[in-house]
Amino acid sequence: MSTHLGAAPGQIAPYVLMPGDPYRARWIAETFLEDPVQYNDVRGMLGFTGTYRGVRVSAQGSGMGQPSMAIYAQELFQDFDVEAIVRVGTCGGLSETVSVRDVILGVSASTDSAMNVPRFGQVSFAPTADFTLARLAAEVAEERLLPVTAGGLFSSDQFYSPDTEITETLAGYGVLGVEMETAALYTLAAQFSRRALALCTVSDHLLTGEKTSSQERQETFEDMIVVALESIVR
Ligand code: HPA
Repeated sequence: MSTHLGAAPGQIAPYVLMPGDPYRARWIAETFLEDPVQYNDVRGMLGFTGTYRGVRVSAQGSGMGQPSMAIYAQELFQDFDVEAIVRVGTCGGLSETVSVRDVILGVSASTDSAMNVPRFGQVSFAPTADFTLARLAAEVAEERLLPVTAGGLFSSDQFYSPDTEITETLAGYGVLGVEMETAALYTLAAQFSRRALALCTVSDHLLTGEKTSSQERQETFEDMIVVALESIVR
């Protein structure tokens, strides 16, 4: 057991899919994993372990925002020896090069969070995806003709941001989407010498105002989970 995860040693698999929403973790486990067993309900942050194509995989909610993601990612790496975490989430589109329903493969995560200040002081660390996982996910998506665009994410501390200019500036620098967790995940993977990747479906678009219906979100989410699982077992 760790402080926030009520699992026994060995109950969490070396590979973990992490949606923000704990109910999504349950849905992933029930839909894609064989013989899923729930190992956590502390604070309702559900976690399950099952198998996919014979490989043990867990699905664990992260909650919203970098502080919540950081608690679960650190405990998974530090206390349960997790090898790789793939975040499977949503983001807001920032760039004209992506549309709603596309999947963004986050190669990097810029952030407005101060979480890394105590680690690096004045240096602005560049949280980065694991190249092997990213390459595998891109390969799987291409083979399955799924629209995946690789590029930068912006991990913001604000969902309702009072500053709209910053997203325009970042889009001008090629950042594709805004979400709230990936920079912390990539930083912790680096700290613990483990692997991480974020795949985010574009659920709404900040430039065009487009939004997905819940049916569309469900379908794209399914495609993204398949990409994540197939990359893990490859
Ligand atoms: N901002 C932050 N996180 C998000 C957004 C957004 O617009 N859309 C989906 N996740």
